[in-house]
Amino acid sequence: MTGPIPLPPNARARLPTPFNTSPEPLELIAQGAESLLYKTTFLSPSQPAALKIRPVKKWRHPTLDKRLTRARILAEARVLVKLSGEGIAAGGGGRKVKDPKREGEGVGGMRGLVPAVLGLDWEGGWLVTEWIEGGTVKERIYRVSRAGTKGGGRVGEAGGEGVEELRGLLRKMGEVVGKLHACGIVHGDLTTSNMMLRPFGTASPESSKPERHDEASAQSSTRSASDVDQPQATSTSQTSLEGDIVLIDFGLATQSVSDEDRAVDLYVLERAFGSTHPWEEELFACVLDAYAHGEGSGMAGKAGKTVIRKLEDVRMRGRKKSMLG
Ligand SMILES: Nc1ncnc2c1ncn2[C@@H]1O[C@H](COP(=O)(O)OP(=O)(O)O)[C@@H](O)[C@H]1O
Ligand SMILES: [Mg+2]
Repeated sequence: MTGPIPLPPNARARLPTPFNTSPEPLELIAQGAESLLYKTTFLSPSQPAALKIRPVKKWRHPTLDKRLTRARILAEARVLVKLSGEGIAAGGGGRKVKDPKREGEGVGGMRGLVPAVLGLDWEGGWLVTEWIEGGTVKERIYRVSRAGTKGGGRVGEAGGEGVEELRGLLRKMGEVVGKLHACGIVHGDLTTSNMMLRPFGTASPESSKPERHDEASAQSSTRSASDVDQPQATSTSQTSLEGDIVLIDFGLATQSVSDEDRAVDLYVLERAFGSTHPWEEELFACVLDAYAHGEGSGMAGKAGKTVIRKLEDVRMRGRKKSMLG
């Protein structure tokens, strides 16, 4: 992680209510074109939370700006609630869906694989979700490739350290995207910055799937019995690629089951991966392979393979477009 960004003067006073007066800790984590992302706590000092604020755009017409902000916040929250199968999780008392297993509409199919929504206010322009430990997949790959210099360089290079681990991580990326698509949602902005790698055993109890939680705690207890790996000590010291992928940033997500839309989702990830991780680029095939095979009960049967075939067309169009300049 690059660490928190220093807060600009008056930052707190300029936040929407109730964050402008509340005594909760506040760290600026990321500053995008459309939003500010803070780490804070919400409802209880023991509930770490990600606060996403979409500030007023002064250059936009105020009515239009309000409408856009409201639409984006609602869209993101709706998708998250649908995927996790929970209502607003206020204090852990969120509405429980009867059968959180995957089904046609995808209600609850991604529980524990997306952050739980804790609160929102579209007038104020903010959305609060559960904080996910461990850093982004991007940061984690960067960290490992730095840590791996002993073996002669980047993690993706032949003979470099950690290639097998990276392959495993990439397969998990393919799995989770497959699961998302099987739930009838395309993400719209898949990148390694929009995927978190949460260390095993750090999922909050309400948001994790029962079976996943068991599996995770079983694994973490074996490890912590052996030595160093305490779940708390994970967020800054992780130099491994272990953990569960959690998808974030659903501001551009839409409901779709079209092969074309799914293929474009994968294409966006492929391009982003190639430019963010050029040394590891050739391993991206692992993502597609796991997706195609419906690993982790994602795009099962022929569904995954059909999308991968479509991806060929999407790539071809991409190449033509870039040739035309
Ligand atoms: N729930 C979360 N837990 C931990 N970190 C988060 C969370 N949500 C966002 N972040 C961090 O903030 C960054 C920006 O958030 P994101 O939702 O991707 O906003 P943007 O639309 O500006 O890209 C992410 O890349 C990640 O580092
Ligand atoms: Mg993002």
